[in-house]
Amino acid sequence: MNATILPEKENHYPVLLNEIISIITPQYGGTFIDCTFGQGGYTKKILEYPKTKVIALDRDPESLKISSGLIEKFNKRFFFKNKKFSQLDELELNNKNINSIIFDLGFSYTQIKDKNKGLSFNSYGDLNMKMGLNEFSAKDVINKLDKSDLEKIFKFFGDEKDSKKIASSIVKNRKKNKIDTQGLVKIIEISKKKRNHKIHVATKIFQSLRIFVNKEISELIYGLINATKILKPGGKIVVVTFHSLEDKIVKFFFKSLSEKKSISRYMPEVKEEDNLFQLGNKKPILPSNSELKMNPPSRSAKLRYVIKEKDIFNFEKEILKKFNFLIEIENLSKKL
Ligand SMILES: C[S@@+](CC[C@H](N)C(=O)[O-])C[C@H]1O[C@@H](n2cnc3c(N)ncnc32)[C@H](O)[C@@H]1O
Repeated sequence: MNATILPEKENHYPVLLNEIISIITPQYGGTFIDCTFGQGGYTKKILEYPKTKVIALDRDPESLKISSGLIEKFNKRFFFKNKKFSQLDELELNNKNINSIIFDLGFSYTQIKDKNKGLSFNSYGDLNMKMGLNEFSAKDVINKLDKSDLEKIFKFFGDEKDSKKIASSIVKNRKKNKIDTQGLVKIIEISKKKRNHKIHVATKIFQSLRIFVNKEISELIYGLINATKILKPGGKIVVVTFHSLEDKIVKFFFKSLSEKKSISRYMPEVKEEDNLFQLGNKKPILPSNSELKMNPPSRSAKLRYVIKEKDIFNFEKEILKKFNFLIEIENLSKKL
């Protein structure tokens, strides 16, 4: 499970903050987009540099409280929108002079502690998992979707080996009563043959439901596509991921658009030298030992970044084709 905060001390630790600051270099000024404002960890640090402006987004309306304090303090340098980052192209930007766009994916410690959101398998009451601006909840998914659809969600979004058995058991149990959070945990505990003692038995199913309810796959893909479109040449896209599915998407997006062969294969009209990105790092940047000590949940964080070389249009075809099967699974929600 990801979170950017140290639970024991309830302090806020934005993951890989120093590494991000050294990549985006706010000391030279400019406009930055923080796509996942959360507790404002990155935004506050960037605003410490006087010649900067930050446009921040977060889908969770709770972020409005923290952002309103910053609006008062930094008016004209800080702007907040309660929007999803897939809608980056809808920002009314005066000019396309964006220096860097940053994504710190997943959920925050505050969100997982929020009982109403029901993101944790330790929650009681109805299933929910909505981070904000959602169309349906985990309660709808578990109590309404077909067995085969549930199985696909668990398998492809959670990499859960016992997907079939768990989906069957859910469908059998919901005939008697609606399934709530602890009801689901119990079904998973009974259904699972082998246990991995390093993680909670319900971790993968809860992750898959969170991804599905929040449409995290299409959010990430369209977030990256639209970030690329609004970024100025020379600008950077920086992404921190917390699980392998996210990292796979980011890695493919960055790599395939930085390599000559992939561009020329799918877009023969573009000349070989016309790469969209230059890769910032070949291997992901990981938290240092001292960060891991201070903030153990940062252990699954991976940072990747690219520098945009030039404006190229219609680059998204290959990306959408590659991940279409995952977007199709998200589209099962149309049945709800
Ligand atoms: C890991 S936290 C970010 C923490 C932040 N970097 C900080 O230092 O406080 C992730 C945040 O991203 C938000 N979020 C997740 N998916 C989003 C999306 N598609 N669009 C906008 N915000 C999103 C969540 O609501 C959460 O507040």
